[in-house]
Amino acid sequence: MISQNLLDARRYEKDAGNRISKEARPAFHLSPLAGWMNDPNGFCIYKGQYHLFYQYYPYRSSWELMYWGHVVSQDLLHWEYLPAALAPDRYYDQDGVYSGSAMPLPDGRLLIMYTGVRVVDRSERPYKEVETQCLAIGDGTDFEKFEKNPVLDANALPAGGSTQDFRDPKIICLKDGRYGAIVANRSEDDSGQILLYTSGDGINWKFETVLIRNRNRYGKMWECPDFFELDGKQVLLVSPQDMLPQGFEYHAGNGTLCLIGSYDENSFSFREESDQSIDYGIDFYAPQTILSPDGRRIMIGWMMNWDACAIRGPEAPWAGQMSIPRELHIRDGRLYQWPIREFNELRRNRVEYRDVEVGEEKLYLDGISGRMVDMEVQIRPKDPAASYAKFVIRFAEEGETCTSIRFRPRESTLKIDRKFSGSRRAILHQRRCFVEDAQNELKLRIILDRYSCEIFIDGGRKVMSAALYTDQSAEKISFRADGDVLMNITKYSIVV
Ligand code: FRU
Repeated sequence: MISQNLLDARRYEKDAGNRISKEARPAFHLSPLAGWMNDPNGFCIYKGQYHLFYQYYPYRSSWELMYWGHVVSQDLLHWEYLPAALAPDRYYDQDGVYSGSAMPLPDGRLLIMYTGVRVVDRSERPYKEVETQCLAIGDGTDFEKFEKNPVLDANALPAGGSTQDFRDPKIICLKDGRYGAIVANRSEDDSGQILLYTSGDGINWKFETVLIRNRNRYGKMWECPDFFELDGKQVLLVSPQDMLPQGFEYHAGNGTLCLIGSYDENSFSFREESDQSIDYGIDFYAPQTILSPDGRRIMIGWMMNWDACAIRGPEAPWAGQMSIPRELHIRDGRLYQWPIREFNELRRNRVEYRDVEVGEEKLYLDGISGRMVDMEVQIRPKDPAASYAKFVIRFAEEGETCTSIRFRPRESTLKIDRKFSGSRRAILHQRRCFVEDAQNELKLRIILDRYSCEIFIDGGRKVMSAALYTDQSAEKISFRADGDVLMNITKYSIVV
């Protein structure tokens, strides 16, 4: 039975979605059908299609009572909206249907595991709430909530585990054919831990172990875990709240963390070997991955961040978008990301320049402009013996308006700055990251869509993502350097 809440949302989102023109949305990044979007949820392949759900409030472009929106795709670039999948309509999820994941069952149905939220005490802020893990099973469009929900509650927590911060289950396949679910939780030390549950049928779950504890090292509570094997290593992705900066890593607030290590599934023990941010830009959080039929690990993240949401007001027709899907690899012990190769099919009108001299004078090049762009830029000092002080690319530029990336080889830093992108809010607009070994050559791949930029540095060794809401008429791209630089550039327009 489809609840009235869900019926209402489905009716509303259809009308509201129709009122948003194609041009008012990102061209190839997913935006909500109407209203607000945050985390990707339930990313999976079901009956030959990619399914992606998302944290959703259809009625306004602000985070409120959470639903699940739903889209499908053949290529992860062209998305078709399906009706909203889940609404807060049971006592155990009446205050929100939070993040979770999906897994096809052997009998052909699609299993969803999500977090149900129920406020139990409104006498003080923040409200006291209880989070539990719940199931919904369906045919890929309509889902029936399991009659014995919740399937994981306070009784399934280890001693000291918080019932208030217990969320974001990600179902994984275990090597012995059973299912696992990793769930984020706050432990008695006030920081995150990842709990592992197992199940033979996806319906009956039991607590197995604490897979890893944060111990207040990387922020406080951890959200949205994912856990998978990649290039012979084991990877844990989480999104920590309340981070402190560590050098050029984890620049405060709500961040992302990738732990690379080894894993023994017989004893469920994960040994950490290295840590890094997932994305070094302003807007990236809560990513989820899938394994594609041809064996690629593909990640998609929410290209927005809780610390910078004010860039988009609740009156906007939509808020929140997903990153470009990125193929993941481990190289030299680090996580590398690269836009999925399907994206190359959207490239048109190749424009190429070799050995262009860039100096003090702002440089515009014929054919290098636009807001839907895929551009590879390589720069090196003109005289290998004399470095330069600074290299700047401005894009989405018109008059004083622009977003810029600035490389300082003597400091080995790359800075993204959207202060002049048209934002009227005093929020986070800049972020720097450390770029190793780029004094002699810096390689960037810059992907622009109408409302975002994603900068892939050094073949994907680091990525910086940011949303920008600059007027679409600002479409110039310019180059400038303090010192003498030689630049190669290959640029495509993206046509969807
Ligand atoms: C992460 C998060 C999740 C939660 C969801 C609520 O961005 O806080 O932990 O499930 O958003 O919308």
